[in-house]
Amino acid sequence: MNLFDVYPVNPINIVRAKGSAVWDAEGNEYLDLYGGHAVISVGHTHPHYVHSITSQLNEIGFYSNSIEIPIQKRLGKLLGEVSGKEDYALFLCNSGAEANENALKLASFHTGRKKVISFSKAFHGRTSLAVAVTDNPAIVAPVNQTDNAVFLPFNDEEALSDAFSAYGNEVAAVIIEGIQGVGGIREASVSFLRLIRQLCDEFGATFVADSVQCGYGRTGIFYSHDYAGIKADIYTMAKGMGNGFPIGAISISPKYKASYGLLGTTFGGNHLACAAAVSVLEIFQAESLMDNARVVGEYLISELKRFDKVNEVRGRGLMIGIDLPVELSNVKKGLLTKNRIFTGEAKPNVIRILPALNIDKAIADRFLEALDERLKEA
Ligand SMILES: Cc1ncc(COP(=O)(O)O)c(C=O)c1O
Repeated sequence: MNLFDVYPVNPINIVRAKGSAVWDAEGNEYLDLYGGHAVISVGHTHPHYVHSITSQLNEIGFYSNSIEIPIQKRLGKLLGEVSGKEDYALFLCNSGAEANENALKLASFHTGRKKVISFSKAFHGRTSLAVAVTDNPAIVAPVNQTDNAVFLPFNDEEALSDAFSAYGNEVAAVIIEGIQGVGGIREASVSFLRLIRQLCDEFGATFVADSVQCGYGRTGIFYSHDYAGIKADIYTMAKGMGNGFPIGAISISPKYKASYGLLGTTFGGNHLACAAAVSVLEIFQAESLMDNARVVGEYLISELKRFDKVNEVRGRGLMIGIDLPVELSNVKKGLLTKNRIFTGEAKPNVIRILPALNIDKAIADRFLEALDERLKEA
């Protein structure tokens, strides 16, 4: 069987990894500042992470949610502590799209309504409702198209207020990334997030904070939406949660009531995934990773702003977008082929930096020197 050819791939075979270093089959070392789409949070093959997963696998890897799984409760307790949302409830699933799908479904059950407001350039995943509220017609199949999804311009307070005045009583949920990732590292403004909170309260709608990419400590606090001093009703998460082990979750405000069968999954919350996620949060605590993300991120952002060839530097903590003029479209490729540094991209010409949260200043400097080299060459 051939693979279904949906990914343009770099011709590099990574066979080994440690921290933020990865090696290809020929033994070449690369610096990973992308973490495979913002997934690697505590660094590749962290010893505590490897030990936790292997020990769990030697005991039991999987059983379904029809039995008690105490490690789920341990994960809930830790996540409550680290995220500062101890009164919220946890539902475990397997991916970011699935987390958003469940959040929107729960919002609809709770409100009895159908409309979901989303924003221009949003990315929420590829399952049916998640993709319907994603602003990219190319990945929305005809079967996913629905009038229940409404798109408004990002950060446009007037458009949001007008929408709620017109049909606020039909809105089940507003879903928003605290910082848009695929959309090019664009931050939701504090006043916009506060207005969403205010209108959701006024009209009884659910505020869903998509924290799949911008959450899990990446910006220096656990959920980037919380910089606005508000609490969302449901936070969705995945990527950094398992440091590469597939796991997703939603954190649900106490006002949402559970009932048997309301949500469900076969694999979500299995022993092995929980062991991965627990060890990630233990490393967060032991190594103060959120503080590190904030400090190293602030350093990187301030240094990046000194490059005069860069149009704009956006983001917070270790979620950084370097917006380059179109004529410098080769810089990202040069970083990989000449400096052996993995970075991400967003259209039209934004370099996305989404490294492990434990990178240090020396790694940041290595990147800054490489970028300087590439920009001078351009
Ligand atoms: C903000 C956001 N939400 C949801 C998703 C979907 O996550 P997954 O690919 O795990 O389904 C992504 C993935 O890139 C994302 O960036």
